[in-house]
Amino acid sequence: MHEKIIILDFGGQYAHLIASRIRRANVLAEIHQPDEVDVEFFRNDLIKGVILSGGPQSVYDEGSAACDPAIFDLGKPILGICYGHQFLSQATGGKVVPGAQKGKEFGRADLKHDAECPLFADIPTTSTFWMSHGDEVAELGNGFQVCGQTDLCENAAVWHPSKKLFGIQFHPEVTHSEYGSQLLQNFLNICDVKGDWTIEKFYEAHQQKLATQIGDRNIVLFVSGGVDSTVAFALLSKILGPGRVQGLFVDTGLLRQGEVDYVEKAIRGIGAELTVMREADRFLGNLAGKYDPEAKREIIGNTFLEVQRAFFAKNDLGDNTLLAQGTIYPDTIETGVTKNSAKIKTHHNRVPEIQKMIDEGKVIEPLADLYKDEVRALGELLGLPHELVWRHPFPGPGLGVRILCAGEAIEEITAPKVNAFTLRRNQKPFQILPIKSVGVQGDFRTYKHPAVLKINDEKLKIENEGGLEALEALSTKLINHYKEINRCMYPLAVSYAGSIKKMNVAASDINTARVARLQRADYIVTTTLQSMGLYNDVWQFPVVLAPIAFNDQGQESIILRPIDSIDAMSASVGKLPAEFFTKVAKQILKDDSISAVFLDVTSKPPGTIEWE
Ligand code: XMP
Repeated sequence: MHEKIIILDFGGQYAHLIASRIRRANVLAEIHQPDEVDVEFFRNDLIKGVILSGGPQSVYDEGSAACDPAIFDLGKPILGICYGHQFLSQATGGKVVPGAQKGKEFGRADLKHDAECPLFADIPTTSTFWMSHGDEVAELGNGFQVCGQTDLCENAAVWHPSKKLFGIQFHPEVTHSEYGSQLLQNFLNICDVKGDWTIEKFYEAHQQKLATQIGDRNIVLFVSGGVDSTVAFALLSKILGPGRVQGLFVDTGLLRQGEVDYVEKAIRGIGAELTVMREADRFLGNLAGKYDPEAKREIIGNTFLEVQRAFFAKNDLGDNTLLAQGTIYPDTIETGVTKNSAKIKTHHNRVPEIQKMIDEGKVIEPLADLYKDEVRALGELLGLPHELVWRHPFPGPGLGVRILCAGEAIEEITAPKVNAFTLRRNQKPFQILPIKSVGVQGDFRTYKHPAVLKINDEKLKIENEGGLEALEALSTKLINHYKEINRCMYPLAVSYAGSIKKMNVAASDINTARVARLQRADYIVTTTLQSMGLYNDVWQFPVVLAPIAFNDQGQESIILRPIDSIDAMSASVGKLPAEFFTKVAKQILKDDSISAVFLDVTSKPPGTIEWE
């Protein structure tokens, strides 16, 4: 049993970020909803401190998120962050008001603190923290004193020395806060909590627990080849021994080249049994004639369910078999934010059929307490190959979200004829393409045209230092200015000489020939990344097929989308060397069916990672 810190989630986007920061300090952190736990819950001796997270509401609004204020008298250290700080102040007799002009603050702020407060131990008297608030604490709670200020926020940090209660308006959990980790470590020191949360200890403790929970039942598990399901599979196989865990792998026909063999070998390498369900015909059959991105996504999701249902209809699990899933911690917790987004995109591990089985006690989720990096650490501990544990994320719908489709053919003659993407006087600095892809601006998804940049400035060439950064900045500027586009691309290689006379878009859906075409290009990218030692320099690297040809009919284009990200919520362009891009583009262009190769230089937002 581990000592732990409880995080009360007031609905902000950062509750998971706080928990993962605490866990990086080897302390177990658990997220709970404030209205689901009362003061009795906190009397547990293993709970050494509490963090109140930020949240989107105003504490003075009727019905806004609240926790049991009796916890402030338990004598346990409590840290309120942003909304949590305001809630703590209001609940102890202070006052929170809407920030007038002065109180609203977003982004970097210089915090000056009072060296006496232990929350600021080893932090310079002035340092940068990240702010994001509209309300502010105008009057302090009883017994509190100020210990930090910014130019715009007088009560940016407050504390109650004898009760060990702390409130901060800023966000120590975001990486932009210079001494954020130090501040959280200081809070853990104040809590006097043992730093005994390690993946080794988790494994030790869970082996026995899982074995008891499973008893003599057997397990079936759908694996995807991704890290979560593979680690879940390896863990259960190790605990239960041979013959008791049956793995099912669905070949959707939308996987990468060689993926089925790779996953089969990797899973067998763990010493586990795997059945490959060859369902490519079913998936491609259902996708035939479809081209709308949302429709494609829905069809792929529904076909997965169809396959699962067919399996359960044929193989009655009975009482002696459990379904295991590789669900991880962020998938299991609904914050205010994900409660809303769940309506848009239900997590596939929580669709109604599966939920019913969960309610009947027929599902086991051995990784449900872990974050992604902990799952990876567990994978390494279980002896899975490093390469398998550190694979780039691959979306459930696979290449289905990387093959752009078109409902009808378009033939667009560009007048005046443009020289292949070089800038002429009085022209827009880009060429708009007659296809569309998905993007994201604010809280809204967009569906707009990509533009190919015309490059006539040396600074914008990828061979020059800072070229990619300059292209990314230019892309943001152009997309903000021209409403008809949501992505910008850099031309890497074209299959024709001279000017563009025609742009042809063929009516196209997802079919075997196009999947094979994309698989070839994707294979070139992955193997070149590996051979040049660059695979771990990017977080993900979608390769996209778009049905657009320049001059020649019947050809298509390939778009490279290298991604630099931490959590896929935001992303920038993976800054790989120019040599890599030119090498890969040249090789891809050897395929006669490819007209051009582009590099997507759009950050997220305004682009999404996938093109769909
Ligand atoms: P976007 O395109 O929204 O992608 O910027 C963010 C991350 O999510 C992955 N992705 C998906 N993963 N099912 C998945 O399992 C999906 O439908 C899906 N769509 C996007 C994408 O690869 C990126 O890592």
